[in-house]
Amino acid sequence: MTSLTETVELNNGVTMPRLGLGTWLIPDDAVAAVVRTALEAGYRHLDTAQAYGNERGVGEGLRASGLARESVFVTTKLAAEAKDYASATAAIDGSLTALGLAEIDLMLIHSPEPWADWRNGEHYFAGNLEAWRALEDAQAAGKLRAIGVSNFEPVDLENLLTHGRVRPAVNQVLAHIGNWPRAVIDDDRAHGIVTEAYSPVAHGAMLNEPTIVAMAARYGVGVAQLALRFCLQKGLVPLPKSTSPAHLAANLALDFEIAPADMATLEALRFADYGQDRAFPVYSGK
Ligand SMILES: NC(=O)c1ccc[n+]([C@@H]2O[C@H](COP(=O)([O-])OP(=O)(O)OC[C@H]3O[C@@H](n4cnc5c(N)ncnc54)[C@H](OP(=O)(O)O)[C@@H]3O)[C@@H](O)[C@H]2O)c1
Repeated sequence: MTSLTETVELNNGVTMPRLGLGTWLIPDDAVAAVVRTALEAGYRHLDTAQAYGNERGVGEGLRASGLARESVFVTTKLAAEAKDYASATAAIDGSLTALGLAEIDLMLIHSPEPWADWRNGEHYFAGNLEAWRALEDAQAAGKLRAIGVSNFEPVDLENLLTHGRVRPAVNQVLAHIGNWPRAVIDDDRAHGIVTEAYSPVAHGAMLNEPTIVAMAARYGVGVAQLALRFCLQKGLVPLPKSTSPAHLAANLALDFEIAPADMATLEALRFADYGQDRAFPVYSGK
């Protein structure tokens, strides 16, 4: 089975393709063409967010592909700043309108903290329960097929697991060779939550890492392919982003197997220098 046809079953019975297309930093007026190219190449899972400002274009690309709506899995994310029921409910409806969809396959709380307050020690437990209730109600109303979270630490998840009605289906976190969040992944798994790997190619920062370059050459694949295959073998759902048709195609050609000893070597690697992108909260090391 290849990554194109593999799916994972979420804890509410919904199935999700094992690899998705990331769309962060692709402008709204450019993303429709990228989405269309990706869908033609075989992608069936798209990842966007309110914060990306490109939901409209993602929906346009999906419609332009001519594919049946139900054959493509669409994820978006509730703005990290929406921490009360009314604003979260309005934002969910805003995503449906922007995407031009009657139903979204998966919607995530983008972050437990608003971006301006990332990992400052305040967990926004009450606000996240408000946002979660809005997602639960939208799911019950048939607007969302599955709901989940992103950037949640075990303590943030525990809050929803203890006080929420619906168990999160997914936790989307920073996970790549060189920065592997083993404790979070283990905690997700213990609660039946699928972990998605965002920035699986380290936002581009691993492309010149000597150990990875050498190992990829040994397997006759590219660095990104090795990185994505690593995520799949670890049971995660990687969300690589590319705007290049050649890279989009390469990132689906993952029909090879990394040997156990090499998996161990890759899991032990430590690097997380995102250069000037450290300015983004998620790469700040906090
Ligand atoms: N939930 C969150 O808070 C969060 C945070 C960050 C990201 N995400 C999601 O995760 C997605 C992916 O993360 P990301 O965009 O940060 O980075 P990424 O997918 O780790 O890396 C993207 C970079 O790698 C390059 N690349 C991709 N495939 C390649 C290949 N086969 N060969 C050579 N270079 C390749 C891309 O350049 P080219 O375009 O030139 O191919 C781009 O520079 C995002 O788009 C978004 O959907 C979520």
